[in-house]
Amino acid sequence: MNQTNAPASDFASRVTDSGKTDTALRGDYSHVQPDFTIDQGWDAYTSADHAMWRTLYDRQSALLPRYAAPEFLEGLTRLDVRNGIPDFRRASEVLDKATGWTLVAVPGLIPEREFFEHLAARRFPVTNWIRKPEEMDYLVEPDVFHDFFGHVPLLTHPVFADYLQAYGIGGAKAIALNGQEHLARLYWYMVEFGLINTKDGLRAYGAGMLSSRGETQFCIESPSPNRIGFDLERVMRTQYRIDDYQQTYFVLDSYEQLMNATAVDFTPLYARLRELPPIGPTEVLPTDRVFTLGTQGEGHKAA
Ligand code: PHE
Ligand code: FE
Repeated sequence: MNQTNAPASDFASRVTDSGKTDTALRGDYSHVQPDFTIDQGWDAYTSADHAMWRTLYDRQSALLPRYAAPEFLEGLTRLDVRNGIPDFRRASEVLDKATGWTLVAVPGLIPEREFFEHLAARRFPVTNWIRKPEEMDYLVEPDVFHDFFGHVPLLTHPVFADYLQAYGIGGAKAIALNGQEHLARLYWYMVEFGLINTKDGLRAYGAGMLSSRGETQFCIESPSPNRIGFDLERVMRTQYRIDDYQQTYFVLDSYEQLMNATAVDFTPLYARLRELPPIGPTEVLPTDRVFTLGTQGEGHKAA
């Protein structure tokens, strides 16, 4: 569907066509700028909104020392956002000093092209609303807790910050080469659900697990999922599920490994990937570097 001439505010009702979700989006898209940003409206948060943030923050930060990558923990400390929903302008100052990134507010999911453009300009789009009490453990759309708590801490890390910008630049190219589906898997497995091998064992750095109490523990401790060494082509071939904990996680040796592996021109890679069958979410290949072979036994969702 050609969306070029449609007003940005139509996106929320068009989202079904893009296949992202089958329900209307919750955010208010009626005041978005052409780049889908809005004013955060920080003054409009209620004390209940801030209390919800603190509850989620306290719960996650109690778990994180055992499960999260040290770079994530350092970033989180630096942002100093334990007291309530952060003001994106203040957080942007911290981030800008660290890596030159800034945050922009959005009403929720935004179209691929605009999302890539923000990343390419070192702007991270963060949803402005927070979940309701009955959604504490499971939420269909990303909210400010997922987007900020999950994604922003690692943006203080110079290599990861450069990686996400490179990913955004690569996005426009993927659209031109029809490689979006393969590129999206790289985001899913290595930005939302990545693990990293440290001297203290495997640690999580992905936003998807680190903003989820259940998956933070599951991804490190459960015997159920596979944990497989990062390989670019392998990751880009692997299908994923969006409605449960992951059945396979990919493990980095370092953020540099991700940066270096993706620095090559993807044009021939997209061409090759088009000819190869996808790999199922639980499949293990003889060529895999297996950290743990999953039992796939655990029933997952929402603690
Ligand atoms: N190197 C990729 C390309 O040529 C772009 C890219 C960089 C994609 C980093 C993802 C991550 O298309
Ligand atoms: Fe996310």
